Amino acid sequence: THQWRGIIEEYRDRLPVTDTTPVVTLGEGGTPLVAAQSLSEATGCDVYLKVEGANPTGSFKDRGMTMAITRAREEGAKAVICASTGNTSASAAAYAGRAGMVSAVLIPQGKIAMGKLGQALVHGAKILQVDGNFDDCLVLARGLSENYPVALVNSVNPVRIEGQKTAAFEVVDALGDAPDVHVLPVGNAGNITAYWKGYREYAADGVSTRTPRMWGFQASGSAPIVRGEVVKDPSTIATAIRIGNPASWELAVAAKDESGGSIDEVTDRQILRAYKLLASREGVFVEPASAASVAGLLKAAEAGRVDPGQRIVCTVTGNGLKDPDWAVAGAPQPLTVPVDAAAAAEQLGLG
Ligand code: F0G
Repeated sequence: THQWRGIIEEYRDRLPVTDTTPVVTLGEGGTPLVAAQSLSEATGCDVYLKVEGANPTGSFKDRGMTMAITRAREEGAKAVICASTGNTSASAAAYAGRAGMVSAVLIPQGKIAMGKLGQALVHGAKILQVDGNFDDCLVLARGLSENYPVALVNSVNPVRIEGQKTAAFEVVDALGDAPDVHVLPVGNAGNITAYWKGYREYAADGVSTRTPRMWGFQASGSAPIVRGEVVKDPSTIATAIRIGNPASWELAVAAKDESGGSIDEVTDRQILRAYKLLASREGVFVEPASAASVAGLLKAAEAGRVDPGQRIVCTVTGNGLKDPDWAVAGAPQPLTVPVDAAAAAEQLGLG
């Protein structure tokens, strides 16, 4: 039997490590590619979900973080820093703790999901809430890493992208070739950059015969790439992608242009609809930001922009347990019954 060894061991020859690099891993990657039945029916396509919430800290960030912390340790760093809407901080805290390094995380005050804050806390991060948004946090983190002995592990660190590109390798390895379309939520725009790099590498080396069109979706209230200008006060219920000035903006636009894809927006209402559909029909519980990819696919299908018969992969980036508020909000309270089979059966409509 084969035990998945984490992305660095599995894709060692395609990553910037040497035989002596001290690998810090939690066994990240190797995530399920789930055939999505109701989405396939709705679109007339073969739709798959790349379920990144199955990573060790519950998001795709672990792919980049195993690389970033591994290389930081190799270079002798004692401390790492990141700005985060929550998932990067959870991942950095876990991997840094494992490597015996200090992690410092800067988060926008009051705007990260409770599960993610809990992760950063329990993994031992030094947390500062910043009186500002993610974009302000990133400016601060960059400045600190330039002037103090602390390594930046945001996706502006190129080894993060190297780690995250492995998700594209896994998709091709599972399907036998690249899909027609790959759909992603876009926040700071590192992940769409990473997938596009991975797909291009596999195609260049003949592992796949082609590359997919990259479709990125931002939340309407936080859609600087769609608008073509920085959004000063970004807003969306999808706090993970509440970003007004993405660091990898140009690279995301390049991924879109080179692949013949698009970057569009979805409203919070469309995100919540996809979020509920994913959980109730596909059995996959994701956080709201992750549902932006699926919301985007449904939006495109309803507008007649999805030709039937294609193979489409949607990345769902983070686990729903990180941010369950939206699962509970607006849902009816469970009924209370006595310890009585007849009463329970009646309430369940079984009688
Ligand atoms: N989905 C989730 C669940 C995320 O946490 C993020 C980004 C994205 C999508 C967007 O990915 O930034 O590469 O375009 N989260 C970062 C963080 C910003 O701090 O955790 P992106």
